[in-house]
Amino acid sequence: MKNTVTTFQEAKGREKLVMLTAYDYSTARIMDECGVNALLVGDSLGNVMLGHPNTLSVTLDDMLRACASVARAANSALVVCDMPFMSCHVSKQQTLRNAGRLLAEGGAHAVKIEGRYCHEVRALTRTGIPVMGHLGLTPQSVHTLGGYKVQGKTLAAAQKLLDDARALQDSGAFSLLLECVPAALAARVTRALAVPTIGIGAGLQCDGQVLVWQDMCGISQSPAKFVKKFGEVGLALRSAFTAYAEDTRNGLFPAGEHCYATTDDTLFDALV
Ligand code: KIV
Repeated sequence: MKNTVTTFQEAKGREKLVMLTAYDYSTARIMDECGVNALLVGDSLGNVMLGHPNTLSVTLDDMLRACASVARAANSALVVCDMPFMSCHVSKQQTLRNAGRLLAEGGAHAVKIEGRYCHEVRALTRTGIPVMGHLGLTPQSVHTLGGYKVQGKTLAAAQKLLDDARALQDSGAFSLLLECVPAALAARVTRALAVPTIGIGAGLQCDGQVLVWQDMCGISQSPAKFVKKFGEVGLALRSAFTAYAEDTRNGLFPAGEHCYATTDDTLFDALV
């Protein structure tokens, strides 16, 4: 079944939505084949793929390249691409142009925007570009937030988050990602909205979940408290790299079956 923003919205209250980050063709193909509903080309690419300390230096070109490779792998998954820092904050024209490129050149089906950018969400949805909102911990605002901290812990902060969520939905957001908020607040927001919520560090009551794949597969070095490790891919890679190095150094690789031969290799004796 093809996942679309419509099937995403229809899933609310019926089935949990499964989303993972993806940044390249090979990994995205496996996720798509495993039935993951949506692939998020997250700007966490800056951290996990490029080794930056935060997402602020991720460019539109970084996102375009990653998104196009993920989109080529997505036969059934919905591809949602993050709008990187400053790509949707300067002017409406620039926002439309950048988001348009993520769909036209990057092959995304929708974009995700961090924060309460209702005018932008309205302009984009009117243009035919579906938008996923993102509230709670919004990593592009790390310096304003004073670090990567749980958000919405006071009544005032929780009320603001609920108001922002309603405003984004009213502006046309087809879904809302909630990052690092108390589970009870995410549950309240989820009940208040008609569109599905996708949680990361936001408890069980969200309509779906997303994780950074390197975190849930045991590759990231110190994942956050909300991450469950579903696999030991890091260990599997280490063991494969070590075995390859050993076999190469010991002259055991390549073996005969890994080599090309001709029917008569003595042919090459004639080379001068
Ligand atoms: O960039 C990202 O990976 C995100 C997370 C919330 C999943 O936005």
